[in-house]
Amino acid sequence: MTSPAALPPSLTAVLDRLLPWPDDGTRADAPVAVDATDRLLLAEAAALVPGAGPAGVVVLGDRFGALSVGALTLGAERVRSHTDAVDAEAAVAHNAARALGGPQDADRITTSGALDPALLDGARLVLLQLPKGLAELTEIAEAVARYASDDVTLLAGGRVKHMTRAMNDVLGDRFTAVHATLARSKSRALVASSPRPEARTADPLHPVRARLTDAELLAAATPTSGGEAPGHVDVVAHGAVFAGAALDHGSRFLLSTAARWPGAERVRDAVDLGCGSGLVATVLALRYPEAHVVATDRSAAAVASTRATLAANGATAGLDRSDAAAGLPDASADVVLLNPPFHDRAAVSTDAAHRMFAAAGRILRPGGELWCVYNTRLRFRGSLNRAVGPTEHVAQDPRFTVTRSRKA
Ligand SMILES: C[S@@+](CC[C@H](N)C(=O)[O-])C[C@H]1O[C@@H](n2cnc3c(N)ncnc32)[C@H](O)[C@@H]1O
Repeated sequence: MTSPAALPPSLTAVLDRLLPWPDDGTRADAPVAVDATDRLLLAEAAALVPGAGPAGVVVLGDRFGALSVGALTLGAERVRSHTDAVDAEAAVAHNAARALGGPQDADRITTSGALDPALLDGARLVLLQLPKGLAELTEIAEAVARYASDDVTLLAGGRVKHMTRAMNDVLGDRFTAVHATLARSKSRALVASSPRPEARTADPLHPVRARLTDAELLAAATPTSGGEAPGHVDVVAHGAVFAGAALDHGSRFLLSTAARWPGAERVRDAVDLGCGSGLVATVLALRYPEAHVVATDRSAAAVASTRATLAANGATAGLDRSDAAAGLPDASADVVLLNPPFHDRAAVSTDAAHRMFAAAGRILRPGGELWCVYNTRLRFRGSLNRAVGPTEHVAQDPRFTVTRSRKA
């Protein structure tokens, strides 16, 4: 175990300029722009950045730019960065321009939308804010072990309370040397090096694929024109995707109401809002073959998974990666399906759900319908009334509620 030194004052001064963008940093309940894990990772990285070469530093999961901006300040000429959520990507770009003195310096951070060779080829130092899910960590570890330089060091940091022994095992399966640093301000880093030879050549586990035969899924995916029900629906899921390659219970409950969704004659444009693995988008494309379906999510992994899930089922849809459907025009949808998030970044929060309701209200045409499923205890009906229009409970059990909101 090693104990990191304090951050150099020049770095502290730069980090002090970062904001939890788009907040201005004054909201008491808002996240901080630079957390203890960022500081720990940068302290550990300080000795390694100079040896990583001009383009050898890669940052994964940067929250608000502290790691990317920090690595540049520690001496990296360029940083390659990947963040799953498009709003985090925007926050990194915003803070880089703000903290480094202008867009030109911010151009020293190149963003990649996937865990691919363009991101990781030749990487010698990878800084990672540990994801919550083991599947996401597994996909990241697979990609680093496969594409990075064979002398790469992976520094993976997180809050001690969120770290589990299983994370060490995921790294240990792909790297010969894994150790933990001392904890500092309740954060700790795992340090992995020497990718295992088999991890560099073995077929990756991700994205995972599954063949689903859930009755609700097959019934909902049956064309309303009276065509045959599909015998199965295939799903492809990257590690960061909600529910992985399985049908989520809430989504299953939403699909069980499909017989009451609008008929094909009323659906020219349908949207899967927060598409995850793309099962709902696939259902919409198969159910309404004449309609134009769009699947939207802020997550790069979700959009890539949806693209692959649609293709695996011979279905087509438009894809949009944006925050709360910002990429979709006003009044452009006849039906929107939504299983809203109950997390925003690491925090349990209903803010994200409310922003999705507002998005549905914006993109629906008059008379269009939002079909939404949520945990019954959340009592979202009043919010849906306000954000979209008159809302009724269509189905309810102790766990889930499905509502239909009609845009006035
Ligand atoms: C509960 S999951 C539902 C996924 C999928 N529709 C399903 O039913 O399995 C919520 C989805 O919303 C996405 N999401 C969360 N916040 C978002 C935001 N601000 N803008 C767009 N998508 C968001 C997440 O990435 C996630 O894929």
